[in-house]
Order: sequence, then C-alpha cells, then structure tokens
Amino acid sequence: MFLLVMFSVTAPEWLLPQHVFAGSCTPTPWDEIGPFYRPNAPQRNKIGSGYLLSGTVRSSKDCSPIRGARIEVWQTARNGSYDDAHRATLFSDNQGRYRLETDYPGGYAQRPSHIHILVDVRGHQGLVTQHYPRKGDRKARFDLVLEPENDTAGAAKGRTGDLVTPGRKP
Ligand SMILES: [Fe+2]
Repeated sequence: MFLLVMFSVTAPEWLLPQHVFAGSCTPTPWDEIGPFYRPNAPQRNKIGSGYLLSGTVRSSKDCSPIRGARIEVWQTARNGSYDDAHRATLFSDNQGRYRLETDYPGGYAQRPSHIHILVDVRGHQGLVTQHYPRKGDRKARFDLVLEPENDTAGAAKGRTGDLVTPGRKP
C-alpha cells in the first residue's frame, strides 16, 4: 500500500493504472461554439508549431478514459484570422489521450486567445468548449470530461448535443 501511494504521488498521470488516478472528474464547462465552426475538418494532429495542447478524454461518471473520441478543433492563426489551416479532427488514443501541435492563436475582436474544441463519442453527451492559452505559455494540458449520455444534467446547462452525431467518424 505504501508503495502504491508513493507511486501515485510521483508518477506522471499517464503511467498510473486507471483505478489509481484520482483527478477531478467535474465535467468540462460548456463554452460558446461561435460563428466559425465548420464540420469535416481534416484528420491531423499538427496544424502549426509553438503550442502543444494535450490531455485525456474522460467520463465524469468514474474518471475512466474514453478512447476513440472524435475531437474537432478550430482556431485563429497567429494573426487573429480564422483559416482552413487551423482546423483539425483528431481521435483520442487507447488511453483516452489526445495531442495537438499548433500555433499560439492570435486574439480577435477583444477576445482573449482561445482554441475551440468539440468532442463527440458514442455513450456520452457532445461537448463544445474552449481552451484559453495563457500568455507566454508554449503548452498546456486540458482534459475533456464528458457526461454520460443518460445523465440529463448536461442538457440543462446548454450542451449542444444536437450539433454532433455521437459515434460518427469522418
Ligand atoms: Fe473564436
């Protein structure tokens, strides 16, 4: 038991057996989809350089990782303009992890820099959210915690499950 505790304190999260991981499983807050979403972004995990966004897709029910989740991202280029080069579709791996290499998004219209994210997987509610890079950062972790589909609390918070088709792959 002692060894297990030591391991959980010192080991990176991705090394831990899933039953040991005790991170927060609060559902990721919904955020505005904005006017620039377009479906069917190309499948890729590199749309720039200088900013690395990574994390794990999890279920709010038990913190378990969710593999095969479809993650769509769209953001501005460094100059603050939306373009096709900064759209991507990626999938969480067998441990629920995702990794996006991108440019630091330029701000626009008085808004802070942000990356739009839409997550879709069978059995869980669709999530539309945004990640806000901190000024000067070159990387960040952003876990995407989804509510199970049979938990209706998400709908009351404005989740946009009707935007996506659960389980669909491009
Ligand atoms: Fe935006």
